[in-house]
Amino acid sequence: MTKQSKTPAVSMDEIVSLCKRRGFIYQGSEIYGGVAGLYDFGPYGVELLNNIKKAFWRSEVQLRENYVGLDSAMFKDPRVWVASGHVGGFSDPLAECKECHTRIRVDKELGKIGVHADEKMEMQEIIDLFTANAKKIKCPTCKKSTFTEPKKFNLLVKSNLGDFTEQGSEPVYLPGEACQGIYLNYKNVLDTTRLKIPFGIAQIGKAFRNEISPRNFLFRTREFEQADTQYFVPPNQNEKPYQEIKKSRFDWYVEYGINPENLRWNQHTHLVFYAKDAWDIEYNFPSYGFDEIEGVHDRSDYDLSQHMKHSGADLTYTDPKTNEKYIPWIIETSAGLGRMFLAFLSDAYTVETLENGDTRTVLKLHKNLAPIKYAIFPLLKNKPELVKKARDLFRDLSKYHACEFDDNGNIGKRYRRQDEIGTPTCICIDFQTLEDNTVTLRDRDTTQQTRVKIQDLLK
Ligand code: GAP
Repeated sequence: MTKQSKTPAVSMDEIVSLCKRRGFIYQGSEIYGGVAGLYDFGPYGVELLNNIKKAFWRSEVQLRENYVGLDSAMFKDPRVWVASGHVGGFSDPLAECKECHTRIRVDKELGKIGVHADEKMEMQEIIDLFTANAKKIKCPTCKKSTFTEPKKFNLLVKSNLGDFTEQGSEPVYLPGEACQGIYLNYKNVLDTTRLKIPFGIAQIGKAFRNEISPRNFLFRTREFEQADTQYFVPPNQNEKPYQEIKKSRFDWYVEYGINPENLRWNQHTHLVFYAKDAWDIEYNFPSYGFDEIEGVHDRSDYDLSQHMKHSGADLTYTDPKTNEKYIPWIIETSAGLGRMFLAFLSDAYTVETLENGDTRTVLKLHKNLAPIKYAIFPLLKNKPELVKKARDLFRDLSKYHACEFDDNGNIGKRYRRQDEIGTPTCICIDFQTLEDNTVTLRDRDTTQQTRVKIQDLLK
């Protein structure tokens, strides 16, 4: 039994430490010294990540009549990124330390001294703010205050896909945002399904950004995944679905276990080039405070108009009832999987004091998100009849759920290990099992144990 005393403020260092210790996250290219802004998902990390994706897909695609999914190629014709506005307008303000050449992201450094700025402001506005406050900003490396004038730094990551590189055309870019594949295929989806406007397309895809200062663990990385939905509506009929979509996305985080007190809305004051209106769902990250996990954007007809103009394709829609022809407007939701991962993990992270004074760390993840659903233990590893029974149960149960077999160490340690990775139920095979085919189920959150018949468990 435990006393329910959750530690008041968990720090991000503790979350990072758990992620490393228990194989959720590894630094990218670690054996070569690591690369800033790149991370790999370890064995439990990939399970949690996949479960978040499944939960998103279930809610956004499978439970909706008028939404379908898509998985588009990452490489695209380079003109896509010109049309989308990313070649011309997707940049962050950068300045370089004249002493040691460290590059800083100007809006973030201004923020640190209490001056509000963001990457969507006009460049001149940022230069003025920076000049007025230049003496207060210190280089994070050499602590001097001598910087070059801020300039725009484009975030697109270039690559060299054979055909295009040989033709000497625009460079080929990795996706700066995953959603462009949805706009390119919106007509294909309409032509090959029975959908009519309004309808939505969801996609989970990779995005790459040359972030000037990747920071805060998974929060700002150079490679990440985005879970997007794009909802196509007739012009000027965006307001009602926009509000409904906003509500449904906020509620989704609460449904999957996030404490609503750790979530809030933030409306953008400066809009990115494609948006008419934009709101962020923010999560109260340990140590960092509230920051964006998901953006909900009213993109109007910006994207389809741009692609019509640059590709020459007709992307208009003809209403089958009224024959009205129009370019649909789009409501977008776009969430970073890494940030969702960090939010779910941080919210679930609990430290409890046991009655004997020991503490246990437990991830109280929603059961659907937990990397392992059942951990199966023989009470003793040197009793072959217990081990065989446990292995048989593992074989039967793992047909339906992610299970783990563990016979290593004393039973108390095995429970602690599973608590730390959020396994909702541990099953122990003991001597009584050999007599009556019952096992002990131990609940992660209450630590209470009950005995059930193996047949009932499998049912
Ligand atoms: N298609 C719209 C779009 O890309 P965004 O606000 O730039 O909008 C959407 O990105 C989400 O992607 C953000 O809410 C955030 O969760 C995630 N994201 C953006 N940049 C990121 C980065 N450098 N590292 C990790 N996640 C990032």
